Formats: sequence, C-alpha cells, structure tokens
Amino acid sequence: MAARLIDGRQSARSIIESVKSATAALEQRAGCTPGLAVVIVGDDPASHAYVGAKSRMAKECGFASTQHTLPATTTQDELEALVARLNTDHGVHGVLVQLPLPPHLDGDQLTQSVSPAKDVDGLHAVNAGKVATGDFDSGLVSCTPAGAMVLVRSVHGSDLSGLNAVVIGRSNLFGKPMSALLLAANATVTIAHSRTKDLPAICRSADILVAAVGRPQMVTADWIKAGATVVDVGINRVLVPGEPDGKTRLVGDVSFEESQAVAGAVTPVPGGVGPMTIAMLMANTVTAAYRAAGIKPPRFG
Ligand SMILES: NC(=O)c1ccc[n+]([C@@H]2O[C@H](COP(=O)([O-])OP(=O)(O)OC[C@H]3O[C@@H](n4cnc5c(N)ncnc54)[C@H](OP(=O)(O)O)[C@@H]3O)[C@@H](O)[C@H]2O)c1
Repeated sequence: MAARLIDGRQSARSIIESVKSATAALEQRAGCTPGLAVVIVGDDPASHAYVGAKSRMAKECGFASTQHTLPATTTQDELEALVARLNTDHGVHGVLVQLPLPPHLDGDQLTQSVSPAKDVDGLHAVNAGKVATGDFDSGLVSCTPAGAMVLVRSVHGSDLSGLNAVVIGRSNLFGKPMSALLLAANATVTIAHSRTKDLPAICRSADILVAAVGRPQMVTADWIKAGATVVDVGINRVLVPGEPDGKTRLVGDVSFEESQAVAGAVTPVPGGVGPMTIAMLMANTVTAAYRAAGIKPPRFG
C-alpha cells in the first residue's frame, strides 16, 4: 500500500487561518497590530523571492509589514544600527534578517543582535536555549523544525512515547532544534550527521525519520523501516534528465517514489515541510505581539 501523503500546504493553510483569527482578536482586545520587519541585503534573486513571499503572507495575515532593502555594500555597523532601531520600535514585534548575507557581513553576529523577544526566526542563542530546556512558553521556536513537528503531530499526536526518531543533520537551524522538539515530545532521539557510521542501519531503526542534509534523494527505500513516518526537509534543485535547456526541478533528501512503497507516511517536496516554515514565521510574529501586549498567545498547530 502506498504511504499516506502528509500535506504541508493544507497544514500551513490551517495555521495561517488561525494566525488571521488571532491577529483580529488581538486588534480587538488590545488595539495592537502585529508588526513584522524584514531586512534584506544585496540582490540575490532567491533571497528576494523568499522575502517577497514572507511580506505578502504577512500582509494577508493582517500584519503591519515593512521591508528594508539595503544595498550589497551595507556595512556591519549600518546593519546592526538598523536592527538596534527595530529592536526598540514598539510597532515592530518580529525582526527577520534574510540569510545568507553578502560574505563581508557576519550573519551569526547579526542574528545574535536581534532582541530574543522579536527573534521570530528562532535563531537567537536565548531561544535555542529555551527550546533545549523545554521552555516553550516564553521562547520562540525556529520555524522549520516547529513546522516539521506540526506534521509529525498530524500523524502521531503530541505524545511520541515509545517511538524511535532519527534526525539526519545537526545544524543549529534545523537538526538540533528538531531533535530537542522530538525529545520534548517523549521520542527516543538519535542525531546522525556526516561522521555517523552505518547511517542506513541507524535510519532503519526509526519510526520517525527526519532528513535535513541537502543531498538530493540520499535516503532510499532500504534505509526506511516499514510503516515509518518520513519527514523530508531537504530542498535541492536538480537537472531533469533528458530535458533540453537545463530544465530543473526540486527534490528532497529522500527518494520520494521509493519511500512511498515502504513508509507509512511521507512529506513530499515541494508541498511538505517548505510551506510550514513561512506559516510558523507568521505564528511566531503574532505570538511575539501577544506577549508584547501582555496577553497569553494561543498555540498554533
Ligand atoms: N523546508 C524548509 O523550509 C527548509 C529550511 C531550512 C533548510 N532546508 C533544507 O534542509 C537541508 C538541510 O539544511 P541545513 O540548514 O540544516 O543544512 P546544513 O547546515 O548544511 O546541515 C546539513 C547537515 O547534514 C549533515 N550531512 C551532510 N552530508 C551528510 C551525509 N553524507 N550523511 C549524513 N549527514 C550528512 C551535516 O553533517 P556535519 O554536521 O557533520 O557536517 C549537517 O549536520 C537543505 O537542503 C536545506 O535547503 C529546508
């Protein structure tokens, strides 16, 4: 039997509808409109496309959204001065600096200069620490792992007791926070990476297999336990064989067709984890606005 398809687009839609309702309720209760400031430096087309999508979604959610587009020649001091201004602007509840930055700028330093209360990307060390210690009431969770967890919960519910989870990838952006979220939900978690020995065997022990590597279709059918839930975070652009003009398509870190024959449930690429990232960014922004207004935010997903 073919694996169940986990529809990230539908889950993301449902989160966005909840964000819209929460935004309207906050306006009514406290006269407060969530404000999202997006900062982009340089003219990388992919980054501009992401930022455009985020700004459009923020508007759809009813936020006051501002975009700060800076030239590639912007200095670290200029960028930090802008972030410092946004940190103290009471109309701004979320500050997002689109990564990657041009090579002369220090992205890590800049990420740490965003106020933790406005760090809607969930990348500040304070927020990473809160996720690691299981404090989900005052911190902001990194958007992609938060979204991937919504998809895991849609299959298994919120208590993963007794389930083995394997996360391939240990980045600060995804692998580490995802592992912490799975652990907080009572899964038994293994984190694998490029130095892991016999990765296929470790993956075969997983009831929940999460791949966040950046290697097209690395995970094949023989890595997957029968009936497992497979969450594919990878986004890789590959050439379509036999097509002229270098036509490309997006694939994940998992061989989707192969996984369908073995897994119990799988996320497609595109249409799985990807749409959840932007939805959770909106959820984090409205959460930050509730907290700034001194009101307990609703839970999303
Ligand atoms: N859907 C979304 O919205 C979204 C968001 C973020 C990222 N992504 C995608 O997710 C993927 C991972 O992103 P990332 O930021 O976490 O990447 P990253 O920082 O490059 O981390 C990749 C991880 O994969 C591990 N790895 C590399 N080669 C491996 C191998 N052969 N076997 C086992 N592990 C290996 C690395 O191990 P070492 O630590 O040992 O080097 C590292 O921990 C990328 O495709 C990215 O585009 C998608």
